[in-house]
Amino acid sequence: MTLQEPTARPGLSSKALELMESINTDAGKDNIWVRTQMNSPAQRPWFTDPGGATGTGSMAKGRVAANQMKSAPYRWRWKDYKAYLDRLSRIASEADVPPIEFADRQSILLTNPGLNGRLQVTSTIRCAISIYNPGDIAPAHVHSPNASRTILSAKGGYTNVEGERCEAHRGDIILTPNGTWHDHGNEDKEPVIWIDMLDWPLMEYLDCAWVDQEFKPGIGSNQKSQATLHGDGYSEALYGHGGLVPTFVSHQRGWGYEPAPYIHFRGEEIRSALERLRKEAGDPHEGIQMQLVNPVTGKPVFPTLNYQTQLIRPGEETLPKRETCGTFIVVIDGKGKTEIGGQTFDWEQNDIMVVPNFVWRKHTNTGTGDAILYTVSDSALLRSIGQYRAQGKDKSGKVIQLVQ
Ligand SMILES: [Fe+2]
Repeated sequence: MTLQEPTARPGLSSKALELMESINTDAGKDNIWVRTQMNSPAQRPWFTDPGGATGTGSMAKGRVAANQMKSAPYRWRWKDYKAYLDRLSRIASEADVPPIEFADRQSILLTNPGLNGRLQVTSTIRCAISIYNPGDIAPAHVHSPNASRTILSAKGGYTNVEGERCEAHRGDIILTPNGTWHDHGNEDKEPVIWIDMLDWPLMEYLDCAWVDQEFKPGIGSNQKSQATLHGDGYSEALYGHGGLVPTFVSHQRGWGYEPAPYIHFRGEEIRSALERLRKEAGDPHEGIQMQLVNPVTGKPVFPTLNYQTQLIRPGEETLPKRETCGTFIVVIDGKGKTEIGGQTFDWEQNDIMVVPNFVWRKHTNTGTGDAILYTVSDSALLRSIGQYRAQGKDKSGKVIQLVQ
């Protein structure tokens, strides 16, 4: 990205710029800024950058965007981050006071190298990876951000959402829409690991991020966990049949607006849905892809975040695509490589990647088996405010508009 430095345009007097800046010396005391620079670097179309590595990851310059940062393409390898989780689990199992008691969670948070240490992987998404030892309980709470867990362990403990007990297994996605009370724990014999994803940075930006851990409807004040009102599979029984929605229950969960009441998507169901479509042509930019939706509204599961899952078949190579949304990817199965903004990242099971907005990306399955990717992006939010656009390349390399 070539950044616009604050200089006068050719032919214009730089004396005027100097005089203007002198006004700012006084105006700053009154919390006023006299515009002396272009609105850089946003004074150009989103698709201008070729998408190379230099297009992301640097602090934007220019007064108007002085505090703007761009997320960078990145990959976190399972073998690297798992080592920290193991250390955390070991300390916790031997500690006089388990970390969950003073840190509230036993987790690592991923930081994007382009975002200067902020606890976020894109401009809107936070990702934590939690490990719960046998017997651990994360007490019941509610918060304004929407959240989910993606289960990495073969058996993944449980989450109780508004009284619905969700027994988790690998590949499951469990939603906690904003305003739903939830608690987690592990009653198995081995530590369990899952990925937490939240729209927390967006709520922080809106100054609307908050958590309530005190008021616990339906449970005693000295109890950590909610009572189980509905057994495992409740929301699946209500909503897990395509095109059928029950008429005798409320679809409201918590206090959110149009919350997703189907909260437990099972990994094996997702996998079998993808596999049943494997002979279809699919999308040249995505392979066989399916979206997780709120069955009541047909909309993305959260008004902010869109969850999708895709099968990339052995030998399949997608065509390049770029979007105005930022995307977070979890490799559930397979081996492959993804080119993001001119950098190539190879990946295998449980690796995690970030595709920043505006940059080109393409996936290749380099293994002998299927590749299954789960993605979360803020395209849901961008669509609803009229800001979602996407471009692709066709086989000849020509750029085409996918979403105008
Ligand atoms: Fe939570």
